[in-house]
Amino acid sequence: MNISNILICPLCRAPLLAEGRSFYCTGERRHCYDIAKEGYVNLLPPGKRSNAKTGDDREMLKSRRTFLSGGYYDPISKRAAETAEEALSPTASFIFADAGCGDGYHALNIEKHFKARGISTLGIGLEASKSGAAMAAKLAKAGGSSSFFAAANIFDIPLADGSVDCVFSMFAPVPDSEAYRILSDDGVLIVCSSGSYHLWEMRKVLYGEPRLSPPLNRTPDGFAPVSHSSLSYEFTLDTQDLIAALFTMTPFYWRCPREGRERLLSLEKLTLRSETEYTVYKKI
Ligand SMILES: C[S@@+](CC[C@H](N)C(=O)[O-])C[C@H]1O[C@@H](n2cnc3c(N)ncnc32)[C@H](O)[C@@H]1O
Repeated sequence: MNISNILICPLCRAPLLAEGRSFYCTGERRHCYDIAKEGYVNLLPPGKRSNAKTGDDREMLKSRRTFLSGGYYDPISKRAAETAEEALSPTASFIFADAGCGDGYHALNIEKHFKARGISTLGIGLEASKSGAAMAAKLAKAGGSSSFFAAANIFDIPLADGSVDCVFSMFAPVPDSEAYRILSDDGVLIVCSSGSYHLWEMRKVLYGEPRLSPPLNRTPDGFAPVSHSSLSYEFTLDTQDLIAALFTMTPFYWRCPREGRERLLSLEKLTLRSETEYTVYKKI
């Protein structure tokens, strides 16, 4: 499993080959993409203004790291990995992409899950935010991981057609046609999304009478659902910093009443429910 045979140039779509600390495309113009000191490669097409705006900012990513490093969402990575295991029954190795991977937390946990079972993976984390890709790559390096991280647009994925066995979409936008294109014929798309009562207790503090969030029930174009499961568990945050970190990485951070925010940020402890949904899709 070699990343060089999988990456393609975001500009001309020709294969990218590793040469020293760079990747060069085999197209006529030999576009070059350097590997950053953190270990990720920036495959966002140069000059596209949308690049600057897409993706979580550094503050959100830092909060995400503070919260996630507490292990509160480990059961979510575990369930995603188990879902892939059941859907693919891998025997020795497989290649997966994590589309919108944030700081790489789930991708790295998924790699660890399979490693513990003697199955090697090539995980490819794709993230619009360069800070996110950098954080993920640093974490991967520190943990001796074989996963590879790129700053990339998941709606224009720099991976070859049919090159991966599994695409994970963990709380991220689902790139229907690009997931379809990069998956092998037997590959699976696994979408993890929030359930109706996800973080319900936080929403109660923020809104008083929160509305139930509607479950994600859109089938991505070109796919058919083959299985579905839910996961629900409780966890307790016992510092104001952790409560603030989780809050900052949720969509409620951007749209909640000021009084609700103040109420939440004054709490010293909060027990919350995590409720998530996992749907496996196959190509039709
Ligand atoms: C809610 S976060 C989830 C991050 C990660 N999957 C997790 O569960 O920790 C959604 C992520 O999708 C990324 N994202 C959004 N649009 C994207 C795009 N067009 N291309 C790549 N990443 C994107 C964001 O930058 C953000 O990191």
